[in-house]
Amino acid sequence: RRALTAAQHGRLGYGDPAGLPELRAELAGHLGRVRAAAAGPGEVTVIAGVAQGLSLLVRVLAARGPQRYAVEDPCSPGTLALLRAHGVEPVGVPVDRDGLDVAALAATGATVVLVTPAHQYPTGVVLAPARRAELIAWARESGALVVEDDYDAEFRYDREPVGCLQGLAPDSVVHLGSLSKSLAPALRLGWAVLPGPLAADFHHAKRYADLGTGVIEQLTFAELLSGGGYDRHLRTVRAVYRRRRDALADALRSALPATEVRGVAAGLHLYLELPPGTAEEAVVAAALERDLRVEPVGPMRLSPGPPALALGFGVLPERRLARAVELLAEAVDSAGGTGRTGRV
Ligand SMILES: Cc1ncc(COP(=O)(O)O)c(C=O)c1O
Repeated sequence: RRALTAAQHGRLGYGDPAGLPELRAELAGHLGRVRAAAAGPGEVTVIAGVAQGLSLLVRVLAARGPQRYAVEDPCSPGTLALLRAHGVEPVGVPVDRDGLDVAALAATGATVVLVTPAHQYPTGVVLAPARRAELIAWARESGALVVEDDYDAEFRYDREPVGCLQGLAPDSVVHLGSLSKSLAPALRLGWAVLPGPLAADFHHAKRYADLGTGVIEQLTFAELLSGGGYDRHLRTVRAVYRRRRDALADALRSALPATEVRGVAAGLHLYLELPPGTAEEAVVAAALERDLRVEPVGPMRLSPGPPALALGFGVLPERRLARAVELLAEAVDSAGGTGRTGRV
């Protein structure tokens, strides 16, 4: 209401396709402060979420010549499907407890790599400092582009989040983020920070994709940022999600002791490795029969890996967590798994 009241009628035409100046300025300040990004307002583009950022980028890069894409293995199924819908078949690069294996990446000959360095999706690991340095050195030496999907960096519970990669190497990194985790995916509002030489082509692609992101949403977000409302909201929900994550992890450890919660305390999902040999899809189906939706990690992999689930807890209040974990333990049992007892 405040944003609309303050807006003159003239503001309700098409905005700058790269984003409203006040929002780009607020975002540049915010990303510098909370993510250690290196961007002025001119480097920030307002987009309709990370997915649109990726779509536009694929188009812009295709026009520059053939590309070879690499993704983390496992990676977000949405990202994988989006790339494939654009005719891109990426090569998978293994992820271990320190994040992306950069030596393996270098061996692929990739020209573009998509990474989730602050909190790898789905495994939940953080790209270790030595790997960050290696990744940036690889990008600089090979001239490759690193696409940083900063999808849930607002939510780190055990310490301050690591700064973004873009701040360390603005010439080699495209940084993408959105409000999908912090407010709601329905908003379709996000941001991109691009190396200078790519920005003009990206803006051109954005203009002819949709003539710009919704102005009313942009005015509202600028108002939330400038008035401190966004920071307050993040502080409030961070505490809520932290309690949910802790409660979920504790309940899983006691109800399913033979499973392993991996990754750092962050984000809105938890990566649960199932005992070897458990049929992941059977657990998912048995959970669904109990009205419990859990994501199998199998479809997120480009090469085989241990059975595992991604458990989203963003919309699950603490009072329902214990019951959800009971149902999951039943599902693991009924699928012939051994999570409850520890027998393999
Ligand atoms: C890792 C990852 N990246 C990107 C997205 C899509 O983000 P957006 O809603 O900003 O398009 C998702 C959605 O869940 C995700 O999990």
